[in-house]
Amino acid sequence: MVDADRPLILVIDDDSALRRICLDLLTARGYAAFGAASVGEGLREFAERRPAAVLLDLKLPDGTGLDVLRELQRLSPLTPVIVVSGQGDVSDAVEAMRLGAAEYLEKPVASDRLHEALERALAPLPAREEPPPEHTLEGARYGMVGRSEAMQRVYQLVDMVAPTRARVLISGERGSGKELVARAIHALSPRREKPFVQLNCAAVPAELIESEMFGHVKGAFTGAVADRRGTFESADGGTLFLDEIGDMSTVMQVKLLRTLQEGEVTPVGSSRSRPVDVRILAATSKNLLEEIERNLFRDDLYDRLNVVNIALPPLRSHSEDVPLLAEHYIRLASVENDIKPKRLTPRALEFLCQLPWRGNVREVRNLMERLAVIVAGDTVSHRDVMDALHMTAPASSDDGAPMPLKLARSRFERQYILERLAANRGNLGNTARDLGIERTNLYRKMKQLGIESPAKRQ
Ligand SMILES: Nc1ncnc2c1ncn2[C@@H]1O[C@H](COP(=O)(O)OP(=O)(O)OP(=O)(O)O)[C@@H](O)[C@H]1O
Ligand SMILES: [Mg+2]
Repeated sequence: MVDADRPLILVIDDDSALRRICLDLLTARGYAAFGAASVGEGLREFAERRPAAVLLDLKLPDGTGLDVLRELQRLSPLTPVIVVSGQGDVSDAVEAMRLGAAEYLEKPVASDRLHEALERALAPLPAREEPPPEHTLEGARYGMVGRSEAMQRVYQLVDMVAPTRARVLISGERGSGKELVARAIHALSPRREKPFVQLNCAAVPAELIESEMFGHVKGAFTGAVADRRGTFESADGGTLFLDEIGDMSTVMQVKLLRTLQEGEVTPVGSSRSRPVDVRILAATSKNLLEEIERNLFRDDLYDRLNVVNIALPPLRSHSEDVPLLAEHYIRLASVENDIKPKRLTPRALEFLCQLPWRGNVREVRNLMERLAVIVAGDTVSHRDVMDALHMTAPASSDDGAPMPLKLARSRFERQYILERLAANRGNLGNTARDLGIERTNLYRKMKQLGIESPAKRQ
C-alpha cells in the first residue's frame, strides 16, 4: 500500500535500461518505485501492490500501453497513469489522454518533468475537487464560456491535445474563438512557462514573412541593418501560433513544410540552419480543403498541420450558449468600465438567441460592451438591444416613448464621430484633434459605440 511519505510508483517499460534509469530517478526524488516489463506483469504487480501512480510506456512486448491503461481505468479509475512515449507516437498519445491518462511525457524524460508530473498527479484529491471558481460554474473554461454539447466537445479536444506535442489545426468562422483555443492549449501544455508567439500570416506582407518567421542576418536585404530572430526562434521551447495560415503564399508553404520536417530554421541570408523546438498550432477561417482543390494550399502541409483538428462551431449552431456569453460579457464590461452591473431581461436574452451572429462570439462581446455603456439603469431590455443594433422596435405600448438622454447622446456621438472619421479619411489622430479629445479616448469611444477602427475596415 501507499506510504504517505514515500508514494509507491510502478514503472511499466520493457527496456530494462530505461526502466532502471526511471527507477533511479524516482528513488532519488524520494519515491518508492518498482518495475514491470510487460502488460501481463504490469497488471499483476498493480493488483498486488496497488501503487499510487503508474508510469507507462506505450510499446510493450505483449500488447500496448493503451491496453494497460484501459484495464487500469476499469480496475482503479482514480489512480493517475502517466504515459511515457517516444516521439512520433502522437496519435497514441492523444488516444491515451482520451482514455484518461493523467499526463503524457515524451522520451527522454527529464527528471524535473517527471517529478512535476507526479506531483500534479498525486496532488491530494480533495484539492483537485475543490469547488470550481464562480465562472467555471457557468461553464467557462480557460476563458471560454459555453455549456452546449458543441463547446463541451471543444473542451474535450483541448484537454486531450494540450499535454501532447500534436500539431493542431483550429478552424472556424471569424470571431468564433480560434485564438482563445490556441491560447488555452498552450496554457494547459507542459510548455506553458515558455513563450506563446503568434504570427498572423494575413497581416504580414508577403515579402516580409520569410524573415518574420525565420529571422535574417545583417545585410540580407536592404534595411536588414542587424541580425534579427524570427518567430520560430522566439517561440523556441514554446508554442508558435500561425494564424490565418490559409493566407500564406504557396512559396512560403514550401519553406514552412521543410522547417516542420527538419526542425531547423535558416535565417534569410544565412547558409547555416539552427535547430528549434517549437510546437505549432495553426488557425484558419478559410476552408483549407477548398483551397487545396484550387491549388492555393499544399496538401502535404495540410497533413502536417492537421494532426488534430478542432473545428469551432459557428455561434448560430449553439445559440443555447448565447445567454451565458451575453451575461458574461456584460458583467465583464461593467467591471472594466467601473459601472454598476446590468442585468439582461429574459425577453432580451430570448431575443439575443434568435440573432444570426455572423460575427460569432466577438459580435456578442462587442454588443454587450456597447450595451453596458449606453443603457441607463440596471436592466437591459429587449428594446435596448434592438436600439443598440440600430434596429427599430416593432410597435409596442412604449413605442414612441422619449429616449433616455444617455442613449440620445450616444447616438449623436456615434453619428458625429463617423462623420469626422469620414472627413479625415479614417485618420484617428486628425479626428481626435477635430473632436478635441485624446486619441486613446477616441479609440475607446469608438469601441464603446461599435465603430470599427478604419485600419480593420480596410
Ligand atoms: N467560447 C467563448 N467564450 C468566451 N469568449 C469567447 C469565446 N469564443 C470567442 N470568444 C471571444 O470572442 C472574441 C473573438 O475570439 P477569437 O479572437 O479567439 O476568435 P477568432 O476565431 O480567432 O477570430 P478571427 O478569425 O476574427 O481572428 C474574443 O474576444 C474572445 O475572447
Ligand atoms: Mg483570430
